[in-house]
This record gives sequence, C-alpha cells and structure tokens, in this order.
Amino acid sequence: MILLWNVPLVASDYYTFNQANHMSWFTNAMSSSIGKKVLMALTGLFLVTFLIVHLSGNLQLLLNDGGKAFNIYAKFMTTNPVIKATSYLLYATFIVHIVWALIITVGNKKARPTGYAVQPGNVSSTWSSKNMGLLGTIILVFLVIHLKQFWYEMHWGGIPTANYDGMEYNDLYAVVNVAFHELWYVVLYTISMMALMFHLNHGFKSAFQSLGANHPKYNPLIKGVGFIIAIVIPALFAAIPIIMYMK
Ligand code: HEM
Repeated sequence: MILLWNVPLVASDYYTFNQANHMSWFTNAMSSSIGKKVLMALTGLFLVTFLIVHLSGNLQLLLNDGGKAFNIYAKFMTTNPVIKATSYLLYATFIVHIVWALIITVGNKKARPTGYAVQPGNVSSTWSSKNMGLLGTIILVFLVIHLKQFWYEMHWGGIPTANYDGMEYNDLYAVVNVAFHELWYVVLYTISMMALMFHLNHGFKSAFQSLGANHPKYNPLIKGVGFIIAIVIPALFAAIPIIMYMK
C-alpha cells in the first residue's frame, strides 16, 4: 500500500492519480502555446516530405510517353501495402495540421479580439507570418477541389483504363490531362501554388524555431534550405498544369 500525505492509497486510487497526472501533463503540453507549435512543426515537416515525394511522382506527367510511366507509378502508389498504410498517416497528419491551425488562430483572435490599431513592428514578422491563416485557407480550398478531381476519381470514380505490356492500368494521366486543358484549373493551381510558396517560406523556418533548433550556426542553413524548398516545390507544381495546358 502507498501512503500519500499520510492517507493510504489503494491500487485503483494510485491508477487514477497516475492517469490524471499523465493526462494533465499531456493536456497542459498540448494547450501550452509551445506544445501547439511543436505539433504544427512536426506535422508540417511531415507534409513537406509528402510534397517532395508527390512532386517527383507528378513530374512524370511531363514525359512524352502518353502517360505510361505516370500510370504505372500511380498503380504502385495505390496498391503497395506500405504506401497505403503511410497514406492513412498522411490523411491524419493533414487533419491534425489543419484543425490545430484553426484552434491556434481562433485562440489568438480571442486573446486579441479587436486586433492592433497599428501592427507591432517586429522585424521578423513578415507578411507570410501574419497571414498564415489566409494562406492556409487558400491551400485548404485548393486541396478540397484537388482531392475531389483526382484522388476521389482514382478511388471511386469511373476512370478510363490503359494497357501496357498486357497489364491493365487506370488511366489517371488522361484524367489529369483533361483537367489541365481547362484554363480555370491552371489559374487555380497557379494561385494556390503562390499561396503555398508564402506558406512554406514562413512555415519551414518557424518549424525549426518551434523545435528549438535555432542555433546561430545553423540558422542561415535552415533559412537557405527553407527558401529553396518554398520556391522550388510550388514553382515545379505550378509548372505541370501550365506546360500540360500549352502542349
Ligand atoms: C500539379 C500539381 C499536382 C498534381 C498534378 C497532383 C496530382 C494528384 C493526383 C493525380 C492524385 C491522385 C493519386 C492517387 O490517388 O493515387 C493526387 C492525390 C493527392 N494530392 Fe496531388 N497533385 C498536385 C499537387 C498537390 C499539392 C500541391 C498538394 C498539397 C498541398 C497535393 C495533395 C494531394 C493529396 C493529399 C493527395 C492524396 C494522396 C494519397 O491518397 O495518398 N497535391 N494528386
């Protein structure tokens, strides 16, 4: 038996006490502003990894092979069990990143409901950092349209098929090709990728700051890599619909 402040504790009390302590540690950590930022940073960095993989796969759309390489790749990505399992982690990460962003934004608004008459003159507070909510919302709208157009069609829609070397594949290339011959899609992708540019430019740097990796020695490297990622990834994503539209 355990004595706590001279009061005998039975096993069930000890369990409840222990569990409550763990719960309060977790809820405290998650409701503290640094806890929220760490979660945003970790989910954000995982999403950047996804973007790099997604971009490398999508660049195959630009090969002059009638979509063969892209369709074979798409089949592999939707049937390989490890990739399928990772996809569920990806969906969960997107949801946590978006819901947490909303909680943080609403929390900030409550703490400062009327806003500043004059924006505080913080040297590092760039336009992107002040507008992460707006940029994230544009990307969210893009994501809903994007998933409906391609991902939903791939999994539940009626997709044409193509045959390569005696094997049947979903012709996802044809679906993307039709979409990217509509001007409004090209405009939507270009605007959304500009929003992604600003979002990543601030998000990448601040993720490392939230994780405590802001040593003066590494800061220029993080800033440089962040800048390259923020420019190159969205620019190449935007180039795909533009090039396919012009072909
Ligand atoms: C030119 C740009 C892009 C093209 C051509 C493209 C194409 C596609 C296609 C064809 C799919 C369906 C594939 C499948 O279900 O296996 C897909 C899924 C998806 N895309 Fe994109 N995409 C682009 C940009 C983006 C961007 C910028 C984001 C995020 C901000 C994004 C997020 C997603 C997600 C989350 C999925 C679902 C992935 C999964 O099921 O594992 N895409 N995309």
